Amino acid sequence: MSRPPGNFDPEQFLKQYWQKKPCLIRQAIANFEPLLDGDDLAGLACEEMAESRLVTGSIEAANWTVTHGPFSDADFSALPEENWTLLVQDVEKHYAPLQTLLRQFSFIPNWRLDDLMISYAATGGSVGPHTDQYDVFLLQAEGTRCWQIAQSFQPQLLENCPLNVLQQFTAEQEWILQPGDMLYLPPNVAHYGVALEPGMTWSIGSRAPSGADLLQGLGEWLAMSDDEGGRFSDSDLEPASRAGEIDSKALQGLRQLMLDRLIENESLDNYLAAFMSRFRLAHEPLPPAEVTQPDGLLNVMNDGAKLFRNPWTRLTWIETAAGARLFAAGEPYECSIWLAESLCQCEQPRISADMLDRASLDTLTKLFNNGHLLLTTAD
Ligand code: SIN
Ligand code: CO
Repeated sequence: MSRPPGNFDPEQFLKQYWQKKPCLIRQAIANFEPLLDGDDLAGLACEEMAESRLVTGSIEAANWTVTHGPFSDADFSALPEENWTLLVQDVEKHYAPLQTLLRQFSFIPNWRLDDLMISYAATGGSVGPHTDQYDVFLLQAEGTRCWQIAQSFQPQLLENCPLNVLQQFTAEQEWILQPGDMLYLPPNVAHYGVALEPGMTWSIGSRAPSGADLLQGLGEWLAMSDDEGGRFSDSDLEPASRAGEIDSKALQGLRQLMLDRLIENESLDNYLAAFMSRFRLAHEPLPPAEVTQPDGLLNVMNDGAKLFRNPWTRLTWIETAAGARLFAAGEPYECSIWLAESLCQCEQPRISADMLDRASLDTLTKLFNNGHLLLTTAD
């Protein structure tokens, strides 16, 4: 496991702060040198595949605007000196070397982490006071930004505003973050960041499905399975006095039918893992143009080519009687726990040809043929 940032103790952090209270870590990454700058981010925001937004406005004028990318050079040239922020999602997937940074957060299981969102703000740039429904680590990467937070606040949002901005915000705490400083916020803490000079904040965000997300996906998954479960039955039906009514006994029976379908479904864990391997995935990996046979893959690995994970692949696994069931883009792959964890731990798994038995090679080949694994060239 990579070292967590700030040399803090993950166990203590999780016990004391995670999902509980904010935590400021000064120099979480000392001498932090960002691997990309504002120009790189603007370049990325011009690409079709990248999800980007430009936010302008200020709290005083309450004149927030949002435009969505892809942008052009002309859009950036037309920007004023102050009061704007460019935000790009999933940056670690577009620029794979940044996955090393996310690995420092692997004391949190992969399935709970979402992405690295980077914001570049001109002086005065802000997205307004707001709350998020997920935990976030705000790492100051360049320049200084003032962050104010409040744990008690009125939840009403500004009306007719394209952003979720709180109508009222009174700061309870305030910090000025310098490069390398990091602020952890649990969900639903109001926060308001304003750039004091041009700079970047890198947000390592988590993801947490709602019950509605899970049930919506479950409905689709059950509909696609062969086993539709039992049908509603009422062998003790009595003559109806109000033909239009679904009476409480019938409602109870319908509800029970639904619950039985869940409880009797042995593979619910498979559904949950499959769901999490796709949840909030902006792009699914595409299979390569040609199918590769296991021996073909073995040969190129023997020749020195290295496997790496498609940055858009979310891998997660559950333990089974036989070992592990690994999920990628909703599909299951049977394998050993060693192989599952090696693939999940690192974007360039430390797997060489001599470590592979036939079953592991077959699983790797399937993942490769579905676009989840890629190969570096052998030189
Ligand atoms: C920002 O980087 O300006 C916004 C990040 C956040 O509030 O979560
Ligand atoms: Co936020």
